[in-house]
Amino acid sequence: MDERQLYEREEPIGLGARALARLRADVAAGDTSPGGLLLYRGAAGFGKTSLLGRLRAAANADRDSQILLYARATEQQQGAPFHVARNLLQPALAKMHEADRREMFGGWYDIAAPALGLTPAGAGGPADPTGVQEALSWVMTQLAVRQGPLLVVVDDLHWADPESSQWLAGYIGQIQHLPMLVSLAYRSDELDSALDDLLLREVRELGTRGHSVELQKLSPNAVEAMVRTRLGEDADDVFCRTCWSITNGNPFFVTSLIER
Ligand SMILES: Nc1ncnc2c1ncn2[C@@H]1O[C@H](COP(=O)(O)OP(=O)(O)OP(=O)(O)O)[C@@H](O)[C@H]1O
Ligand SMILES: [Mg+2]
Repeated sequence: MDERQLYEREEPIGLGARALARLRADVAAGDTSPGGLLLYRGAAGFGKTSLLGRLRAAANADRDSQILLYARATEQQQGAPFHVARNLLQPALAKMHEADRREMFGGWYDIAAPALGLTPAGAGGPADPTGVQEALSWVMTQLAVRQGPLLVVVDDLHWADPESSQWLAGYIGQIQHLPMLVSLAYRSDELDSALDDLLLREVRELGTRGHSVELQKLSPNAVEAMVRTRLGEDADDVFCRTCWSITNGNPFFVTSLIER
């Protein structure tokens, strides 16, 4: 994972760490509404994946305190139904014994197992998407209740296949009473605006357990510090200022410019 210094991101990093710590503490204290939502929104290259990386690292530093479910949507897999949901859930479920999985999935087994790629698709072809969504919700809830707390991380949500997005949009309303923190990152200008609105509404409804961070461009001072750290303290002021103005403070552009 990329561990380079992130300039002017102390607040969103701290927010993630505190939300995770709070989930653990609330669950340990028997709180019945510990669910939280953390959104990292921002333009391409503003540091969303890097921030999710810090959150995942915090979870991995104490693996016994929660289960981490992680998926990253890609433009190439946008046409594969339930691709993101499968990537999210499959690793944790694949570790279980078949009998335990059957017991946990209950009546949803014949729909959920093929949809999650745990068994071959049935002879009748793929189940109808509404049924699959219900099955996935059941499985996610069972995982949270039996093995939670869960940290559920989805990166690049704007590229998620429509079936997974629709499922997540429907499921997000249930998380409040479940032991899970859901963290989603996306290019806010590329996500379907109805889904963006729904997620922001959910953040508000969750009160102090809902967080949305709109990432901003870096200041001239931050770009100057990046340039000097990389190229030496003697990099001149005009050069640093030019790096800021031609990149418009976009961390990805700054990094590309000074690390070539
Ligand atoms: N605050 C920052 N300070 C220094 N470098 C940063 C910062 N934010 C991001 N970077 C660097 O910029 C590059 C892009 O960051 P990252 O991949 O996290 O952006 P992103 O928002 O996920 O982009 P995309 O929308 O393309 O997925 C990385 O090399 C990362 O290390
Ligand atoms: Mg990214």
